[in-house]
Amino acid sequence: MEALALDVEKVGADVPIFSKLFNGKTLAYLDNAATSQKPKQVIEALTDFYEGYNSNIHRGVYEISERATEEYERTREAVRGFIGAGSTEEIVFTRNATESINLVARTWGESNVREGDRVLISVLEHHSNLVPWQVLCQAKHAKLEYIGIKGDGTLDMDDFKEKAGGARLLAVTQASNVLGTIVPVKEMARIARREGCTVLVDGAQSAPHMKVDVNDMGCDFFALSSHKMLGPTGVGVLYGRKDILEAMPPFNLGGDMISEVHSCSASWNELPWKFEAGTSNVADVIAFYHAISYLERMSMESVREHEMRITDYAMDRLREFGGLHLYGPADLSKRAGIIAFTMDDAHPHDIAAVLDREAVAIRSGYHCAQPLHESLSLGGTARASFYLYNTEAEVDRLVAALGKVREVLGR
Ligand SMILES: Cc1ncc(COP(=O)(O)O)c(C=O)c1O
Repeated sequence: MEALALDVEKVGADVPIFSKLFNGKTLAYLDNAATSQKPKQVIEALTDFYEGYNSNIHRGVYEISERATEEYERTREAVRGFIGAGSTEEIVFTRNATESINLVARTWGESNVREGDRVLISVLEHHSNLVPWQVLCQAKHAKLEYIGIKGDGTLDMDDFKEKAGGARLLAVTQASNVLGTIVPVKEMARIARREGCTVLVDGAQSAPHMKVDVNDMGCDFFALSSHKMLGPTGVGVLYGRKDILEAMPPFNLGGDMISEVHSCSASWNELPWKFEAGTSNVADVIAFYHAISYLERMSMESVREHEMRITDYAMDRLREFGGLHLYGPADLSKRAGIIAFTMDDAHPHDIAAVLDREAVAIRSGYHCAQPLHESLSLGGTARASFYLYNTEAEVDRLVAALGKVREVLGR
């Protein structure tokens, strides 16, 4: 598919929510790490499905069911290409990145992690790539170890190298949803796998924003969420290396994931359907295809370049504004388009609430990364996060609204 130059105005015009008014103003949506807004191509695909060929997949032999099955499986092929996997057998649809990680913890983890084993994660992790391992380690009497970060917010690779030897699993994010830190997962996977350690990469904050290639990365598992990359909610992806997925027991049990069922026994369907029990989220998976096509038309390289430009501009403007503490790497090549910050004497929730009156949407709190905040002795942060439709003018609105925070709070 031929990539188009990223025309930010045009992307913005494709997203219906940006033509609505909030408090009489258009929305400056800067909470893309939480979820992305949806272009009309994705929204229309949902309506088309429900109005034109709503049906269940994989079982009907009538026209609309065959069409739904074809389009559902077409998304799987699109995801395969998008993340550089070798085969669609390695692409499992789940509800979200969280479920993808839980699937691995509850199946692979259940049968592979034993008493005394070490599971390695980083202090950057979102709760979704932390709590499943915490609970698994408690149940198995295994040890959960954390790779630390350095003062500049980058991962401490020396600490990782010291801990990698003999670890059973490395589960690490490719991009932090708080500090924006881009983690060198390819180098880590090479080291970890040489040590016989299985590698899971949480791609929830990387796949939407940069070119990802799971083969080149060398990971065993990779998780992502559709809703963070222009697609609908309710769809996640688990990539798993075929040999590993084949050896894993199924996750949920029931319809579609079976091959044969007798009164006292059952056998499992082939990959990837062995992991997709029950009626799938057909409409949303089908619409996800249009999100992937949209991103591919723009090219992920252009998306990344655009976000680096906006982040650079935003960091400069926020530094100029003064009185803010910005967290995460200063080096743009090592950070995604996410800026967590605090303002002296202003609670992050108050900052977000005042910004809301200006129709500037940011996030405040722990961002599902409480241990990271605790390690930085922070009770929470405010967070602005960007995507392909954000503009410098929206960054200017963020800075102007922060001026209002100062006025309102009298600082
Ligand atoms: C780094 C990271 N991992 C995992 C998740 C979980 O994604 P979801 O809520 O879509 O499962 C998030 C969501 O914010 C995230 O930022």
